Order: sequence, then C-alpha cells, then structure tokens
Amino acid sequence: MCGIVGYIGKKEKKKLILEGLGELEYRGYDSAGIAVMKDGKIDAFKATGKLSNLKEKTKNFTSNGEGIAIGHTRWATHGKPTEINAHPHFGKHSYIVHNGIIENYREIKEMLTKKGVVFLSQTDTEVVVYLFEHNLENSKNAFEAFEKTVISLKGAYAILLITTIEPNSIFFAKNAAPLIIGKNSDEVFFGSSDAPLIGHVKEVCYLEDGQYGILDKNEIKLYLNAKKVLPIFKDLPQDRSFAQKEGFRFFMEKEIYEQSSVLGETLMGRIKDNEISLEEIDEHLLDGINAVKICACGTSYHAGLTAGYLFERFAKIRTDVVIASEFRYKDPLLTKDTLFIVISQSGETADTLEALKIAKNAGLKTLAICNVDNSSIVRLADTTILTRAGIEKGVASTKAFATQVATLWLLSIFIAQKRKTADKKSLKLEIDTLLKIPTSLHVDNAVHEKIKRLSKRYLHGHGFFFIGRDIFYPLALEGALKLKEISYLHAEGYPAGEMKHGPIALVDSKLFTVALLPKTMLYDKTKSNIEELSARDATILVISPEQFELADDFIKTKNSSHAMNEFFEMMIILQLLALEIAVRLGNDVDMPRNLAKSVTVE
Ligand code: AGP
Repeated sequence: MCGIVGYIGKKEKKKLILEGLGELEYRGYDSAGIAVMKDGKIDAFKATGKLSNLKEKTKNFTSNGEGIAIGHTRWATHGKPTEINAHPHFGKHSYIVHNGIIENYREIKEMLTKKGVVFLSQTDTEVVVYLFEHNLENSKNAFEAFEKTVISLKGAYAILLITTIEPNSIFFAKNAAPLIIGKNSDEVFFGSSDAPLIGHVKEVCYLEDGQYGILDKNEIKLYLNAKKVLPIFKDLPQDRSFAQKEGFRFFMEKEIYEQSSVLGETLMGRIKDNEISLEEIDEHLLDGINAVKICACGTSYHAGLTAGYLFERFAKIRTDVVIASEFRYKDPLLTKDTLFIVISQSGETADTLEALKIAKNAGLKTLAICNVDNSSIVRLADTTILTRAGIEKGVASTKAFATQVATLWLLSIFIAQKRKTADKKSLKLEIDTLLKIPTSLHVDNAVHEKIKRLSKRYLHGHGFFFIGRDIFYPLALEGALKLKEISYLHAEGYPAGEMKHGPIALVDSKLFTVALLPKTMLYDKTKSNIEELSARDATILVISPEQFELADDFIKTKNSSHAMNEFFEMMIILQLLALEIAVRLGNDVDMPRNLAKSVTVE
C-alpha cells in the first residue's frame, strides 16, 4: 500500500515530508520521492529502497518559506521498484503522487502516446500527470483541466498534484484509496492515513470517494460530481500506534478487515469485457504445457492446495501441489511440459526459493505468485503475478492468503480461457463471482461479536480438528494453522472423509471440531461426517449457511450460489476465531512466539 503526504505552508518542507513518510513506513514500500514547489519552481528527488536513501539524496536541499510539497512511498504493483517508477511522476510543469490503481491507464496511455507523449516509467500513475497537461491545452484554467482528468479516471486513486501553472495551490482527488486533509490557521497537511498528521493538526477531513478539489493555504474548494461540497472536519486521534493500526487492536485484525479493499486491488485491471487479462503473462507461457506443479510452504501451500482443485476442475490441467521443503529432497520427476508455480508472500522463503532453483535448473517454465516485487523469488522466476496485498505486518498470514487464492483463481480462469476448457457461460459465471468477492470479504460485525463471545469456550481441551472437503479441506488446514500460530493450542486440519480412518479415535467432549459445511460443495457427505463425530460426543462448532441441529456451536454464513463465495466467507470466520481465542489467552497476536514473518533459512 503506497503512502502519500502533502503540505502547504511556510515550515521547512523537506523535513516535514520525510518525517511524514517515516510515519507511513509501516505500510511497506520499496521506493520513495518528494517534490517541493517554491517561488514557481519545483525541485524533486526520488530513491529506491529505504527512506534513508532519499534522506541522503536530499541532505543538501532545504525549503524554508512559503511553499508546497508532496511526498510518496511506493509499494510496486505496476512496474518494478526502480527510481524511474518511483513517485512523484512529472510532465512539463507538474508533479503527481498517487496511491491505488488506475484501471483504464492503458487506454489513456495509448491515446497520449498517439499525441506524441513519451512515457519514462512502467507505471499507471504517469499517465495521469500527462493527461492533466493534455487537458490544460483545452481548459480555461488548471482546475478545469484537473477536473476533466479526474472524471476520466477509472479505478482506485488518492492523488496530489502540483503544477507551476498554479504555483500556490495543490490539486487532490480521492476514490477507493484513503486521503485525509488536516489544517491549521496558516498551513494544510495531507496524508493517506492519520499517522503523518498526528502532532501537526487537531482536526482532519476524511475525503469521500469521488471527491476532488483545489486547495491553497487559505481555502479548500471541494467538489463531488462537479458540485461544490463542504469539507467536514472532525477531531484527529493523537495516538500514533493506534493510528498505524487504523483503530484496530492488532495489525492482524486490521489486515483481516482490509481484505475486502485489498482484493479489489488484486483484481484491478485484470478483468476486462468478461475476460481475464494478465499483462504479466507472456502469450507463449502455456505453449507446450500439459501439467502444473505448485510449490510453497505454510499458508502459501494451503493457497496452492486450493488452486489444485480449481486448476483441475476448471482449467482441466493436471496439477500437483507439493511442500517446498519436501520437494527439495525427494528426487522429483520433472518434465518440461510442466509449468512450475511457486507461491510466496515474502518472496524470500528459503525452501521455496531453492525449489524454484531446482525447477529452473531442470528447464521448466516458472511462475511466481508473490506479494513483494523485486524479492529473490520474483527476480528468479521467469514471470510473476503480484498479489498486491500491500505489506502484511501480522506474522500470521491473512490478506496474503486471500489475495493468493484470488490470484490463483484468476489464473485458473485465464488458463481455461487459453486452453478453451470452459464455455463462455461457465467463464462468465466464474468472472461474475470473482468480481463480487471483495464484497463478500466485508467483515460482518455481528459475526465478529459472536466469535468474540464464542471464543471463551475454546481455551482449553486437548485439541482441535478443523474439517472440510474439496477446497474446504485446504481451508480447514489454514484455519488450524492460524489457531496454532497465535493461540499455541494444538489443532489439525483434516479431510472430513478421513475421520473414520483413525482420527475419530481421539474424539470426546474435550476435542473441539470446527466443521466447514458449505451448501454448494458435498453438503450431505460432510454433514454425515459431522454426525459421526457428534455421535461420539465431540464438541462441534459448525460453520454453514444452514442450521445444523447437532452443532454445539453454530455460525451462520450467507446462502451463496458459488463455493468460492462460501470459501472466502468461512476464511474470515476462521481468521477471526483464531484471533479472538489468542486475545483471550493474552498472546501477542502480531508477533507470536517462535515465529518469523519470513523463513529465510531451512
Ligand atoms: C502463515 O501464517 C505463516 N506466516 C507461514 O506459514 C508462511 O505462510 C510460510 O512461512 C510461507 O511464507 P511465504 O508465503 O512468505 O513464502
């Protein structure tokens, strides 16, 4: 998730902007930049890597006196984390910083290229500043040009733009990405979250989707649908740590709640006219491919197992899913007609990286599903599809898993398109369902409150079974892992049909079973597995759209027409269940004992 800061006033601007960007470091980034306008002239600096590199570059630069400054930390989604791709991006007279994804950037870029614009970067953001300058040519003033620009954008954006054409003002726009304005009597601050504004202002205006405007240090002109609206200011909480967690108790909780918006970014620009469009995938990647091997660790392995069902069912391609640490030493049989897919949030997991090397040395085509651009795995794989989850601070993976599954689901449809293994109707159903997933990831507060109450019953016992069938089996594994990681209680995920092959011997009233009972997938089969457990006095929490009379506890989910809707809704419940049990046990939810966010050793 990128970070944005802005300032109008007479304080020293470089220091203010760099400090503000420092308050946004928790959002993760791989490059940063600043632009300062003073006396009608703009100075700009950009650097890859940490903010210290930008500080080094600007050490001899100061900017006292009246002026305007904007700053940005970038988490690469379109284009590598290079200095050219870092923000601010610029045209002839103007500089821009942007958070979000411009969905129609390709069409805009084509139009501007035809008019002779030469783009330097691979980013979607650069087209906005050039579109603004293109609109300047046929507008009566800069604001009209900016308004025309904003109206033609599709997708998610939080924008700050400065231009020597209007040297005392800053232009801003907000849609589906946060942007906040804070003001004092003779200065104004901008931020993409509360954190950089704390200590500078007492009240802020949280801009609404679709709002845009122009602002100088005396007046904010705010618009919505070309009509002027009044900015609404409210008190700014002054607790920085609280702000970085955006009001949640833990980063993990924040990351569970932001899965809905993050999934929107994962899908942004990748579904067009009822087709999956993956610009990262070379059109020949699938040439000669008859099988897929997926390799990963931990939660990423569970995403891979889920993908295994989707690839075989929909793309009709044989798919094998292996744990990287096992794959490395099993003398695997590898054939060149196999596409080797590695999945990794960090892109630095040692076992997964080594497995990738084995596949590459065997001459296989390789694809990484990863969240961190320029990571070791991304640099090694032939090609990468970024999951765009933004930084994940919680060691127990949540939004990384959700975006991995969504990305792999996208890929299964893409492969089905290419191999023509699905008719238009089935493709459309998958795509229509996929497009609604961000909505189904909204956390239902009533459900969360119920889980908080329910969790008090699951703090002891001699362990948990998490059971499910088909794609709900890897989800059961993931639910068990979440609980283990942060509550330190023993839990196992199992295929529901496996209980009678041994595990059922463990069953008694102190063995807690969390049963995933979707209506759209093997309902009756799973129901009878649960009944077997209930008959042996297991204590059972059933998660299902339909009331289950034998459940000791029950969490109702929505009726859906597609298994993946049920999958994501039950995923949220499992994440929250693990969280609330861990909270009751007083554990460090974000930094559980013995665990690291990235396992870079064997
Ligand atoms: C999941 O909650 C854990 N953090 C862990 O299992 C993780 O998924 C695994 O270590 C793989 O990490 P990666 O996705 O960064 O490769």
